[in-house]
Amino acid sequence: MAEASPRKLEALELFAPLPRHYDRVAALLSFGQDPRWRRTMVGAVRAQPGERVLDVATGTGLVARELVRRYGCQVVGLDQSYEMLASARTRLQHDDELAAHITLIEGEAERLPFADETFDHLTFTYLLRYVDDPAATMNELARVVKRGGRIASLEFAVPPNPLWNGLWRLYTRVGLPSLGRLFSREWAQTGRFLAHSIPSFYERYPVERVVELWEQAEIGDVHVRRMSLGGGLVMWGRRTADKDGGERRRPSADGGAQDT
Ligand SMILES: C[S@@+](CC[C@H](N)C(=O)[O-])C[C@H]1O[C@@H](n2cnc3c(N)ncnc32)[C@H](O)[C@@H]1O
Repeated sequence: MAEASPRKLEALELFAPLPRHYDRVAALLSFGQDPRWRRTMVGAVRAQPGERVLDVATGTGLVARELVRRYGCQVVGLDQSYEMLASARTRLQHDDELAAHITLIEGEAERLPFADETFDHLTFTYLLRYVDDPAATMNELARVVKRGGRIASLEFAVPPNPLWNGLWRLYTRVGLPSLGRLFSREWAQTGRFLAHSIPSFYERYPVERVVELWEQAEIGDVHVRRMSLGGGLVMWGRRTADKDGGERRRPSADGGAQDT
């Protein structure tokens, strides 16, 4: 790994103690919504059995598992956290079907250890807030996807409606750290971290700017779906067929407005 920036060190430290209860706590803290967001994102990939999908920031492997169950595709799950990957490995040890379809790799989204156009499709989850240069990382993610392949992501978001926005801020500032404390000191710290990290990312990169980053990375036909009153944001698009972005256009009817 190249010398780690403060942002990267923070991400590495944040996730190191979380894998043990990650799946259950993450679902609970999002009121059961984040499995639903993950399913929507995976649904946008529309992979064929046998195709190769790269799942970046795979963590404990929840997206990788969903991809295999839904499509019977081959998945490479990549993450920079040794500890999160160790938990994903344990999952594979208990499930031969998953083990036959998923390969796990320790690596960084900013420097993917793959040749251009290696994968049919790519997914990434809760990633861009943790990287120093989201534009460069988007380019790097797109680089390893075949032309025409699908790229889909999931991220937390700040609800745009003023009422929900106010409640969301209250929940993330007070509710998340307090609920987190019920599990461990580290989850309380994660709650405090998210209350700051999510709005601060969107102050620097409003959703329209994130769409631009995708388009600059030669990803076209970009869709944006806000879910759960805007607390979750699922995006998907296709790597453009040519360098001029033949398939590019502004976000479609899903764009921004849809809330499910
Ligand atoms: C909130 S977890 C998401 C895990 C999983 N994909 C899910 O759906 O729950 C975010 C993951 O991103 C990983 N991560 C953060 N920055 C990364 C980077 N630059 N390269 C690779 N992984 C990264 C973290 O280690 C962590 O496992």
